[in-house]
Amino acid sequence: METTTNSTFLPRIGDRAPEFKAVTTQGNINFPADYAGKWVILFSHPADFTPVCTSEFMTFATLQDDFAVWNTQLVGLSVDGLYSHIAWLRTIKEKIEFKGMKNVEVKFPLIEDITMEIARKYGMIQPGESSTKAVRAVFFIDPKGVIRAIIYYPLSLGRNFAELKRVIIALQTADTYSIATPADWQPGDDVIVPPAGSCGVAKERMESKVADLTCYDWFFCTKKLPLERVNSLVVARKN
Ligand code: BEZ
Repeated sequence: METTTNSTFLPRIGDRAPEFKAVTTQGNINFPADYAGKWVILFSHPADFTPVCTSEFMTFATLQDDFAVWNTQLVGLSVDGLYSHIAWLRTIKEKIEFKGMKNVEVKFPLIEDITMEIARKYGMIQPGESSTKAVRAVFFIDPKGVIRAIIYYPLSLGRNFAELKRVIIALQTADTYSIATPADWQPGDDVIVPPAGSCGVAKERMESKVADLTCYDWFFCTKKLPLERVNSLVVARKN
């Protein structure tokens, strides 16, 4: 196993998002302070002018408004410099057509991190995969600047954007309705209610005295949460 003098720091779920100031394709940012009150997907990609990353950037850019509807901003990072970023994004807009996406303008900030200082703060440099490129990290950061979910992908694997969106919606739904979401949950599916906190509640649930509740056992009960109630989180913010 490779040993490194720079041990890899991995932020954890529940940690405050490490702070940094950065130069980006949309100007300077002070993170996460500039995003207070918003959800952020902070993600890294290995390198500009590479095919998987290009397919991902086109998809991120195409979905930017969909994420904005969920009060979610996108921020990208790679260890390339600003002029490489600018040249790559111009190439994407002017030349690349992929899966029906064309003339795609990347309007969210892409951080330059040639020193790898920010990438290291976020555990994006994982030497077993590459010591010169960031892996495909995805940090879901809440409006208070707390890391709520993390997904890491290797260099060869393009991200699943339906899953990134599902994570944002599931986190916001869990926060708003104090529920949890079961395996493969999709908006509109039943959700999991907090476990019974007393023998009385456990008994009541198992005897089906609570309307709208399905119990598989006393500790595993679900209830309906219609799609309109999940989507009402969006409507509330549009007003
Ligand atoms: C890519 O985005 O295609 C890529 C980047 C780095 C290593 C391998 C693939």
